Amino acid sequence: MIGICDSGVGGLTILKDIHKRYPRLDITYYGDEANMPYGDKTKEELEKIFSDIKAYFKDKGCTDIIVACNTMCSAIEFNDDTIKIHDIITKTIDKLDTPKDKKVLVFATPFTIKKGRYQKGLAEKGYQSEGIALKDLARDIEDGIDKAVIKDKLYQEFRKHQDENIGAIILGCTHYPIYKDLFYEYYKVPVFDSLGLAFGLEDSDEKGAISLHMERSDKLAHFLKEYIGDIKL
Ligand code: DGL
Repeated sequence: MIGICDSGVGGLTILKDIHKRYPRLDITYYGDEANMPYGDKTKEELEKIFSDIKAYFKDKGCTDIIVACNTMCSAIEFNDDTIKIHDIITKTIDKLDTPKDKKVLVFATPFTIKKGRYQKGLAEKGYQSEGIALKDLARDIEDGIDKAVIKDKLYQEFRKHQDENIGAIILGCTHYPIYKDLFYEYYKVPVFDSLGLAFGLEDSDEKGAISLHMERSDKLAHFLKEYIGDIKL
């Protein structure tokens, strides 16, 4: 069994992607709504939260944890002798295949932008980039705020970052692929996210089971339907 975690619904984008590729893998999903949003927290707070989540997954007998949260991936260490912990940031950067003479815009939470793993990783590969912190977007998505309102707020932010030289966008928060279309619609350049990453997982023989550790309130019902769909829980 593997564990997938995020502060809320964002990591369901990764869960859905993994389940599609490994339909027989058992998955436990930890949506940490009690501590949402992670993007405003300190490194120490995030480390403490992750150690609790890790203990939860170990208790469940998980062999691997996919940290489906860029903010958490910007705060923690991945070395652990007792359980395999998978990062998504380096693998997301590796997906980029756009020309290097153009700038990459990275949209993410304030913590992720401040830590700068994307900006540093992109610079190492010869890309110029600009990190843009979206302080409300993850929370707004989590709260089920109307798409038209989200679009308005996002477009106000986008207008501050217009440039002929933009060649690609990275969605550096797993909540954002839910509204990937808004980023593409405005910038009309390739938009990269953390889906389709290779984690070296092995599918098992039995039919996989998925369990969710999250409050399944009404506000989340449409996300569960959209991101879990017909998956049997
Ligand atoms: N989905 C998360 C990420 O990838 C965290 C959003 C938040 O809780 O602020 O960064």
